[in-house]
Amino acid sequence: MAYNLLKGKKGIIFGALDSNSIAWKTAERVHEEGGTFVLTNAPIAMRMGQINELAEKTGSQIVPADATSTEDLDNLVSQSMEILGGKIDFVLHSIGMSINVRKGRAYTDQNYDFSHKGWDVSALSFHRVMQSLFKADAMKEWGSIVALTYMAAQRSFPDYNDMADNKAYLESVARSFGYFYGKEKKVRVNTISQSPTPTTAGQGVKGFDGFISYAEQMSPLGNATALECADYTLTLFSDLTKKVTMQNLFHDGGFSNTGVSKEVMEKFV
Ligand SMILES: NC(=O)c1ccc[n+]([C@@H]2O[C@H](COP(=O)([O-])OP(=O)(O)OC[C@H]3O[C@@H](n4cnc5c(N)ncnc54)[C@H](O)[C@@H]3O)[C@@H](O)[C@H]2O)c1
Repeated sequence: MAYNLLKGKKGIIFGALDSNSIAWKTAERVHEEGGTFVLTNAPIAMRMGQINELAEKTGSQIVPADATSTEDLDNLVSQSMEILGGKIDFVLHSIGMSINVRKGRAYTDQNYDFSHKGWDVSALSFHRVMQSLFKADAMKEWGSIVALTYMAAQRSFPDYNDMADNKAYLESVARSFGYFYGKEKKVRVNTISQSPTPTTAGQGVKGFDGFISYAEQMSPLGNATALECADYTLTLFSDLTKKVTMQNLFHDGGFSNTGVSKEVMEKFV
């Protein structure tokens, strides 16, 4: 069902790799709600993914940008303003990657070059994106910026590895930049803490299949899907949430506030 919630709004969507990506679903839903946007991803991901198909479907243009490159991001921001014909209402940061996870390095045996790269891609990139937008004065008043995160920022999930630290940093950047963006430009900045979701990034985490079933049984409403995450993101892009900022918002079917569920308890009796 569409409500025209984003009619006339313009944005930038990072991170649509394939049809499982949370950013992909968000792009489709933003399009249905009347928003227009530029799609972007790392140049290397463009070759692997199917972003052209999404661009065609949503009538969008693609501007490649490596989120660790300030030059790429500055170029993305100026090109997006040209393509969209003015300032931007919404931005989705949906980017994550850990080489330690990919290479199976234990948390107690990190390769710090890998850690550094993962932090740059997954966490510092959020600051970079906002700094590029801020310096170009690219955001419209009452605009909205959202990044995706995971609850391992607050609680220990051993196999989430160094991504836990990256997410803690990302959430902190949302609060810190959110202060300045709110004060100086009336722009809101939030993170959505999403349930485990079967995407390329999600499935890269060791033990993902067991973990997603565990989370499903621990959450009174069940895990939130990528499409449901897209829907929640739309509300934050809409004018219905103008005073929500500097928040980490759990979108996890109640998992984060559940001590134990009946289903999980039953496995121990
Ligand atoms: N899948 C889950 O279980 C889950 C749960 C909570 C939060 N998240 C977060 O959601 C976000 C989106 O991930 P997803 O699950 O849709 O997986 P995904 O693999 O579809 O998306 C990750 C994206 O990051 C992009 N990326 C990687 N390096 C980049 C770079 N240098 N520059 C620009 N883009 C780059 C990839 O190309 C890809 O499009 C991530 O921040 C992830 O941590 C995912």
